[in-house]
Amino acid sequence: MRLILLGPPGAGKGTQAKRLEERYGVVQIATGDMLRAEVKSGSPIGREAKAIMERGELVPDSILIGMLAARVQAPDVARGFILDGFPRTVPQAQALDGMLSDQALPLDHVIELKVDDAALVERIAGRYTCAKCGEGYHDRFKVPAQAGVCDVCGSTEFVRRADDRAETVAARLETYHRQTSPLLPHYAGQGKLKQVDGMADMDEVTRQIAAIVSGRPLGTG
Ligand code: AP5
Repeated sequence: MRLILLGPPGAGKGTQAKRLEERYGVVQIATGDMLRAEVKSGSPIGREAKAIMERGELVPDSILIGMLAARVQAPDVARGFILDGFPRTVPQAQALDGMLSDQALPLDHVIELKVDDAALVERIAGRYTCAKCGEGYHDRFKVPAQAGVCDVCGSTEFVRRADDRAETVAARLETYHRQTSPLLPHYAGQGKLKQVDGMADMDEVTRQIAAIVSGRPLGTG
């Protein structure tokens, strides 16, 4: 299975990619996570990316295409992948088309998670993760079973992303509409684009994606 999850910041790409990874045994490739790891390590890429990400803009295509080209050659990718956050520009999509064609790894689907901008701000502003294991939570939509304690690892430390401030979220949304939404016609033209209702609850979104992946429309068992 080779999928791209497309959608604006906070649409639920990361949430759904992790579920698909567990369910189908394929790898999630999240360029935002890869960049945050570079920032944390203080590498040259991280030093260049940090301020760009905090402004809600896109890191240059040359950096992202290089990172992705290296990642898709790793052995685990041969089992299948879910791209979360890449591509984000038409040049990135064209570079990806070339990489996958060179490796004879055709995409199965590009799934757009459709969510209203107003809902995205609430989702992002309420998001936080466990500082130890990275499990994701939300002040309203996904709280730990025991307040202040991670369900997965028991840690009591949580973190919020530097680019999740309200003013940066507005810039990230504007960037999405200007630079990433042109990918929708790019993939529609290849006959790969499918849409799911990203406003539905998380389990319903997972069901809609599973129906696309299985090739069985919802309601047909
Ligand atoms: P990245 O990390 O990719 O961030 P993003 O695309 O802005 O997406 P998010 O991670 O914010 O949201 P998501 O869609 O994964 O939603 P989530 O599942 O967390 O990129 C960060 C930055 O890195 C970019 O701004 C850019 O600078 C740079 N970058 C990355 N890739 C790049 C590239 N290819 N080119 C150039 N620059 C790049 O869900 C959000 C919240 O909502 C969670 O709390 C979740 O619990 C909740 N939620 C999820 N689904 C639902 C639901 N159905 N109902 C209610 N709540 C829900």
